[in-house]
Amino acid sequence: MSTKEKVLSLLQNNIENPVSGEKIASECGVSRTAIWKAVNSLRQQGYQISGTTKGGYILKALSDIFSKDSFSEYFSRNFAEYSDSNIEVFSEIDSTNTYAKRVLTEAGSLRLVDESLTEAGKKFHKSIIVAEMQTAGRGRLGRTFYSPSKTGVYLSIIYAPRGGITNPAILTAFAAVAVCRAVKKLFSAEPKIKWINDIFVNGKKICGILTEGFTNFETMRIESAIVGIGVNIKDNPDIFPEEVKKVAGSITGNSAANASRCDLAAEIAGQFLTLMEGDHSQIMKEYKESSFLIGQTLEVHPVIGDENSVYKAKAIDIDDNAGLIVELSDGSQKTLSSGEVSLKSYNFV
Ligand code: BTN
Repeated sequence: MSTKEKVLSLLQNNIENPVSGEKIASECGVSRTAIWKAVNSLRQQGYQISGTTKGGYILKALSDIFSKDSFSEYFSRNFAEYSDSNIEVFSEIDSTNTYAKRVLTEAGSLRLVDESLTEAGKKFHKSIIVAEMQTAGRGRLGRTFYSPSKTGVYLSIIYAPRGGITNPAILTAFAAVAVCRAVKKLFSAEPKIKWINDIFVNGKKICGILTEGFTNFETMRIESAIVGIGVNIKDNPDIFPEEVKKVAGSITGNSAANASRCDLAAEIAGQFLTLMEGDHSQIMKEYKESSFLIGQTLEVHPVIGDENSVYKAKAIDIDDNAGLIVELSDGSQKTLSSGEVSLKSYNFV
């Protein structure tokens, strides 16, 4: 943690209460002048810190400042084991997934044939790219993902596991579990997963996940995944087109958010990295417990746009590879993988 992050952390732990410059200096192991400089730098970023070196510094209630310091302060405090991850925070970008692709194109291979990380791999594996807004946010199936500033948060994580990516659906499922954990922890909301990549709160979509693969043409394997996550925290009625408004919601609606955008992004990223090292079937159990499709009758669209290919099926289960097991009208069962279907409507019987 940098001095600035430590100062921010101390003030956040004592929100609305004075902390003396002397105490901060001794906890950070630096001079009071260094603390004064760090406080001024935080003020310039928009943090409302009152007080003087004599009376103590007071941080005003929840500061939703979007900055690398704010992200890193929460991330290193809660996920210290990943604090050497490469973190990039943008106030505006075309798309965090597209940016990650550019990074990977320039970086070259992240792993050697013996599976050890290359120098680029040491830097970019577990990278976290966060943006306050996206001008060309992308959703699944070539759709646009509206990514306005102030009301949401958009992030991508680069992950290059040993052995490459054999089942991208698992990464999407783990990202969904990470979002659910983060939303429950920071907002006390009850998120539900719609297989495979959508998160709902109060019946409306509040988050979408787009997992893309990056192929190493020398080894011809998908070496890394880019896991992109977009969350609507507060309502933003102006920006969404009518058809999006019907399905899109937000975690807190019109009420003020009780956690900052950077904290949510950092909690999601930290949870995801933790889950990637966890017990696979236990995490899929958690995924299933939060899923609301099981038991529902669905309309399956195997070929998007071709109404003749649509059929009805009942969702029976989700397997450990994140496949959706459905029962057809003749009683036979089939496992759907995320790439081949769109579940356009459900609950219509
Ligand atoms: C979907 O709902 O279809 C998936 C939406 C994924 C949106 C996220 S926001 C961060 C990352 N960057 C993008 O351009 N898309 C993903």
